[in-house]
Amino acid sequence: MEKTWEILEGACYHCKKCRLSEMRTNVVIGKGNKQADIMFIGEGPGQQEDLQGQPFVGPAGQLLDKMLSAVHLRMEDVYIANVVKCRPPGNRDPHDDEKQACINYLRYQFALIQPKIIVCLGRIAATTIIDENFKITKQRGQWYERKGCHIIATYHPSALLRDETKKRPAWEDMQAIRKKLDELKGIEES
Ligand code: URA
Ligand code: SF4
Repeated sequence: MEKTWEILEGACYHCKKCRLSEMRTNVVIGKGNKQADIMFIGEGPGQQEDLQGQPFVGPAGQLLDKMLSAVHLRMEDVYIANVVKCRPPGNRDPHDDEKQACINYLRYQFALIQPKIIVCLGRIAATTIIDENFKITKQRGQWYERKGCHIIATYHPSALLRDETKKRPAWEDMQAIRKKLDELKGIEES
């Protein structure tokens, strides 16, 4: 069957596939450009995101905006989503069964957007998308390739808010991401 945003949104807004549905105010699907070349994937909605129904609108989101603008990316250039679409209570890590229940929605989003690059923000996204044993401190900043899509992980903006020393490596990752995007676009245009 043809994939559409209407189908995805309908399914997500009514979803009760995991216990996170019981505590949510809003399902948080994603924001940004649905034709973006680059997709950022976080962990799950926090309090502000749950209240507003939009990803990355709280403190972590403000830092993410800064990280994007530092490499001249605007919200219109990217699409942003999370591994789980409903807020885990108290911002705990999403459980395995919750991630399993939700991951097909993210796959569906990926199929609709068909980005050239995926950026995993933090350990939860990286262990879910790249490799279950992914070590963020060791493996961030490295490129992986899957079905023609280039995948990289960097620190979650919330981790940068807790630990200033992570800002420099995260900045280097953002520059590598910008470079890869320019290269891939160059290939397309030439
Ligand atoms: N942290 C996340 O991982 N996702 C959000 O949407 C907000 C904060
Ligand atoms: Fe459904 Fe995902 Fe929300 Fe769980 S987190 S209820 S699987 S949309």
